[in-house]
Amino acid sequence: MAEKVFIFDTTLRDGEQVPGAKLAIDQKIEIARQLETLNVDIIEAGFPASSPGDFESVRAVAKAVRGPIVTGLARAVKKDIDVLWEAVKAAKRPRIHTFLGTSDIHIQKKFRADREKILQWCVDTVKYARSLCRDVEFSTEDASRTDFEYLCRTIEAVVKAGATTINIPDTVGYAMPMEMADRVRRLKEAVPALDKAILSMHCHDDLGLSTANTLAGVLAGARQVEVTVNGIGERAGNASLEEVAMAIKTRKDIYKGLHVGLNMKEIARTSRMVSKLMGLPVQRNKAIVGANAFAHSSGIHQDGIIKDRSTYEIVRPEDVGVTAHTFALTARSGRAALKHHIALLGHSPGDAQVDAIYEKFLVLADKKKEVMVEDLDILVQDEMFKVPETYKLVHVQILSGTKATPMAALKIQRGKEIIEEAATGNGPIDAAYKCIERIVGRKFQLIEFGMNAVTSGQDAVGEARVRVRSNGTIFSGGASSTDIIEAAIKAYLSAINRWVDAEKKTGKSAGKGKKSK
Ligand code: KIV
Ligand code: ZN
Repeated sequence: MAEKVFIFDTTLRDGEQVPGAKLAIDQKIEIARQLETLNVDIIEAGFPASSPGDFESVRAVAKAVRGPIVTGLARAVKKDIDVLWEAVKAAKRPRIHTFLGTSDIHIQKKFRADREKILQWCVDTVKYARSLCRDVEFSTEDASRTDFEYLCRTIEAVVKAGATTINIPDTVGYAMPMEMADRVRRLKEAVPALDKAILSMHCHDDLGLSTANTLAGVLAGARQVEVTVNGIGERAGNASLEEVAMAIKTRKDIYKGLHVGLNMKEIARTSRMVSKLMGLPVQRNKAIVGANAFAHSSGIHQDGIIKDRSTYEIVRPEDVGVTAHTFALTARSGRAALKHHIALLGHSPGDAQVDAIYEKFLVLADKKKEVMVEDLDILVQDEMFKVPETYKLVHVQILSGTKATPMAALKIQRGKEIIEEAATGNGPIDAAYKCIERIVGRKFQLIEFGMNAVTSGQDAVGEARVRVRSNGTIFSGGASSTDIIEAAIKAYLSAINRWVDAEKKTGKSAGKGKKSK
């Protein structure tokens, strides 16, 4: 029988550590439910001891999903483990995941301790975690830079203390694939206790080798992979779920007798959702989920594909849920048809949300002849995860040209007030953003601005994404429209509305700004 490689998804923990990618509780639940549909084996939902908000969202995920094991991360201290257990114990299948640095660099520089003290600390931590939960994962942080003999002793001791999964992270993305394979093989030989635990890979992408290292570990005997959707994560990111899973599926000749239990057709949808809700665009040439991953541009390749797809295609797009535009809705499509297609996309908005989506759909359908699946997905996600629209665009007028100083005049609604402002800038969008800052009465640091054509053709929907910083915290916003200036302004306003929402939740008064005349 084929042996399973367990998919441990850490999009909501390591992935969420990307600055500005912080999710609200309802967004986390939505992604967790989608991960359940994708059929991942384990969801790492956050780091509960890091903040009350994180605690609440891990607890909400633990209650919301029933299929996958739910875990969170805890430092190797009793308080963190208690908080984690409190957050996940309501899950149908809870797990405690805890970690301690085992490389000499961590032992000496971070803990100012010695190896024996750390080894005992690892054992005590695992024993404590086991007293609460029968499923305990222990990570030897910075394992790839840990002395091999010491790593073996530590793993032997923590498995005997009750750890059921041992994770050996390449925390700083330092390892090379052949080295990783060698290390895993030797660990399996040298540590008899590993017969009673699952060995797990967790690779970072600092040298662009996270997928290769993860797969090398699997070939050598690891049976759990810690991955994120779209490869997001600390610094250069983590190994990408879709790459690791599709490599194992596509190269059955290499990964003989192994399988992953994913519902691969959900990959594209999961990727879109994570990208959208976390405000992190997927690079066009990203394997499996990038916009160009299945686009053949050269004439020779196109000719080959027409003759036989296998000439230039090793993964069929439909196998990962990338569909050719299979449906198009028009302004004549009724509410029932819209609702049906929303359900096909895997969303379940409430009736009031469907009404609001329908209104926006009609506006879009008036501008475009046909509304495609991607357009609809964006409309739905915009509506389902919006924060209160404290600031709303009413009207924009732009003056721009090669010889003219770009100028924007905006009317913005705040509650019942309509506030007008005009400004010049080094471009129309800069001018519009200046108006907004004056209206809000605050300066924001624009740290990222991106524009994407989500659909193709002359009437394509453009999606703008921005990330702004205020007092060290990053807020992301996104909006789409067939008019790119309007999309850019609405994206900026959506980031600012997130800022207002966050300020209100922490009891601060945001959004005073300029008064209407
Ligand atoms: O990269 C890492 O070492 C980690 C562990 C804490 C699991 O994320
Ligand atoms: Zn990590």
